Amino acid sequence: MKNIKKIATSVLMVSLTISALKAKDSYFNKNLSAEKRAILLLNKMTLAEKIGQMCQYTAEISNGKTAGLDDLTVTLRETSLNNYRKGIEPKAKLIRAGKIGSFLKVPGVTAANYLQSQAMKTRLKIPLLIATDAIHGHGMFTSPATIFPTPMTLASTFSEELAEKMARATALEMRATGYQWTFSPNLDIVRDQRWGRTGETFGEDTLLVTKLSVAMIRGYQGKNINENSVLACAKHLVGGGESLNGINGAESDISLHTLNSIYYPPFIKAFEANCFTAMAAHNAINGVPCHSHHQLLTQLAKRKWGLKGFIVSDWNDIRNLASRQKTAKNFKEASMQAINAGIDIHMQGNGFFDNMIQLVKENKVSEERINEAVKPILIAKFKLGLFENPYVKLEKVNQKVLTDKHRNLALEIARQGIVLLKNNHQLLPLKNLENKKVLLCGFSADNQVQLGDWAKPQPDENVVTIYEGLKKELPHSTNLELLKVNLLKNINNQYIEKAVKQAQKADYVIVIAGENSLRHSREKTAGENVDRSSLQLPGKQLELIKKLKTHNPNIIVCLINSRALAINWCSKNIDAILECWEPGLLGGQAVAEIITGKVNPSGKLAISFPRSAGHLQIHYNRKPMRIRNYADSPDSALYDFGHGLSYSKFNYSNLKVSSINNSIHDNLEVAVTVKNDGNIAGDEVILIYCNDVISSTTTPIKKLVAFKRVHFKPFETKIVNLTIENEQLSLFTLHNKQLVEAGEFIIMVNSLQKNISLK
Ligand code: BGC
Repeated sequence: MKNIKKIATSVLMVSLTISALKAKDSYFNKNLSAEKRAILLLNKMTLAEKIGQMCQYTAEISNGKTAGLDDLTVTLRETSLNNYRKGIEPKAKLIRAGKIGSFLKVPGVTAANYLQSQAMKTRLKIPLLIATDAIHGHGMFTSPATIFPTPMTLASTFSEELAEKMARATALEMRATGYQWTFSPNLDIVRDQRWGRTGETFGEDTLLVTKLSVAMIRGYQGKNINENSVLACAKHLVGGGESLNGINGAESDISLHTLNSIYYPPFIKAFEANCFTAMAAHNAINGVPCHSHHQLLTQLAKRKWGLKGFIVSDWNDIRNLASRQKTAKNFKEASMQAINAGIDIHMQGNGFFDNMIQLVKENKVSEERINEAVKPILIAKFKLGLFENPYVKLEKVNQKVLTDKHRNLALEIARQGIVLLKNNHQLLPLKNLENKKVLLCGFSADNQVQLGDWAKPQPDENVVTIYEGLKKELPHSTNLELLKVNLLKNINNQYIEKAVKQAQKADYVIVIAGENSLRHSREKTAGENVDRSSLQLPGKQLELIKKLKTHNPNIIVCLINSRALAINWCSKNIDAILECWEPGLLGGQAVAEIITGKVNPSGKLAISFPRSAGHLQIHYNRKPMRIRNYADSPDSALYDFGHGLSYSKFNYSNLKVSSINNSIHDNLEVAVTVKNDGNIAGDEVILIYCNDVISSTTTPIKKLVAFKRVHFKPFETKIVNLTIENEQLSLFTLHNKQLVEAGEFIIMVNSLQKNISLK
C-alpha cells in the first residue's frame, strides 16, 4: 500500500513538473522569444547554475587505448562508448551537478549525445553547447567529414560565394553530428609569416579578410540563428598575426592607427553581420593581455561594435594571465580580471567555477556581471533549438556528412584557389603526354598533408592525393612513376639520388614540395604552435629540386604549404610553379586538372611572398618607403598579394571611375573592360586598388578597395562594374577620427590607373 502511494505521488509530481514546464510562461515554451525564455530561465537559476554555464571543458579522455581519439569516430563502437563513459565520468558528474555548460574536443557524435544525456539529468535540463574548430570543414574530431581546402586556399579564390557555401556545408555537417558552435572564422591579419598559423587565416588584406569572414558568418549562422545554424566565432581579438618574432601568443605592439586601419575593421563588420560570439587572442596588445582588456572586449567589441552574444577565452588563457603574462597573482585573480574585462566563457577545465563562486561572494565580481555573461549563452541555446532537442540521430549522420554536394564544393574551392605563380615557356599545362614519362616525387605527393591543420586523418578512400589525381587525369599511355616518400626527413641523399636517376629518363618531373601542418603529424613544420625562424623550404627539399633541375629541364614545382615561402631559387630557375596551398580532401584532383589543362588556374595570392624572413613585413599595402633596396637584396616581395597567372591572357582597357557628386561622401563606381585573349575559358579576379595621393596621416602606396571574380568564355570581352564603398577611401586622422579627406585619389586596376578628385 505504502509503495503504491509512493508511486502515485511520484507520478503526480512528474506530471506536475511536465505541465509546469509546458506552462505558457515556462522557458520550455518554444513560442516565446529566445530573449524572453532566457530571462525566465535566468530567474530560476542559482548562482552556481549560472556560473556552470560559463564553464567549458574538453571532452577528451586519455585513459586507455580503445578510448583514444582515433577510435572515436562518427560511428562510435559500443566498446569504445563504454570506455568513453568510464573515462569521462568525472566530467559527467560535473555536468549532472550543473557545473558545465559547454564542451569542446568532443570525440564524435555518440559522445556528443552521451554528454547531452548527462545534461538532461540536471535540475533545469539546460543542454550543452558543443563547440569545435571547424575552420575548413568539420573534421577535427569526426571522420568521415568533408575537409575543405584551408582558409588560405579559400582566400586565394577571392570568392565570397564559395566562402558562404563552405560555411553552410560545414554547419550542416556539424549539426548532423551534434555540434553547434564553431571557432571560426579566423579574422587575424598576417604580417609576419613566421607565425605557424598563417594558413588558417585569409591572409594580409583587411578588405579580403572582412568580406570572406562575413560571408562565412552568413553561411554558419544563416539569416537567423536556428536549429540548422551553428554559432560563428570571430577570433582572435586581436593582433596575433603580428606578434613579436612571429611567435604564437607572444605580445603584439601595434599602434592605434594600425589597429584602427588594419586590424579592427574585420571585427566591426563581423559583429555588424551578427556574428554571435568572439574569442580573445592569446597575446597581449600594447602591454595589456587581450584576456583582461576591458576596453577591447567590453567597450569596443560589446558596446561600440555591437557584439550581441558572448566572448570565450582561448585555451587556458585566463590561467595564463597569472602563469605567463603575469598581470595576476594567481588563477583566482586572473579569473576576476578576465570576467570583469568581458570574457563570458572559460575555456577550459577545473578551478574557474570555484574561483567565480568565491569572487562573487567577496563582491569582486558582481552577480549582475554574471547575469550579463550567462543570458546570451542561454539565448544561443534557445535559438539553436537545443531545448527542444539536444540529440542527433545516428542513423541520419551518413546522409548528411561528406555528401556529393559537399565533395564537389571542396573540389571547386581547390580548383579556384590554386595559384599559378610562374609559367615560363608555357610549360603548363602539360601537352602531348601520350607515351610520355612523368616522374612524381616529393613528400606530399601521395598522403594527407594536403588536408592541413585542424583536421584529423581521414579514411584514405575519401582523399584524392596528387598521385591519384594524376593517375586519373593523365592519358592512359602516359607512364606516371611515383617515387614515394611520406616523411620530410626521408628526403635524404639516397632519395635524392634515386629521384635524379629516374628524372634523367623522364620527360617531365613534378616535385611536390612545401610544409606539413597536419595536426597529428610528428614532423610538423607549420600549424598551431609551430612557428619558424626561416621561410625556406624545410629539410632537403631545395637540394632535391636543384639536383633534379641539373638533370631535367622540365621541372614543375607544386607547393603544398600553408604560408608563403621564400622560394627565390625556384622562382629564378624553375619554369612552372604552382601554389596549391592545402587543397583539402579532393585537392589532388584539382592539382591534376590544372596540370593537365582541364581547369584553367585562377587563384590570386592573398598574401605576399617574401624573399626571406628578413624581408618581413612585406605586405603589399605598405606605407611609402625610401626608394633604395637593402644592401643585400631588393626590398620588394618575390610575388605580391594579388599575383596569379592563368592559361589565358586577360587584357584590361577603358578604366572609368565616377561618383555622383565627386564628394567625399560618395561611393565610387568603377567600370573596366576585360578581354579574355585566350582560346580557353577562365575566371579572372579583378582587383581594384586605390592610393590617397596627399593625406594628413600616411596611407598605403596601394590598398585593395574592391574585387570581383568573373568568368570569361574564350575570347570573350566584358565590361566589369564594381563599387568602391566610400569607407574604403577613408583614413584615420592624427586624432583617430575616421574620415575621407578631400583631394585626389588614384584608382588602379592591373596596369591601368585613373585619378579622381573628391570635394
Ligand atoms: C586556439 C584557438 C582554438 C582553441 C580551441 C586554441 O589553442 O588558439 O584558435 O579555437 O585552441 O581548440
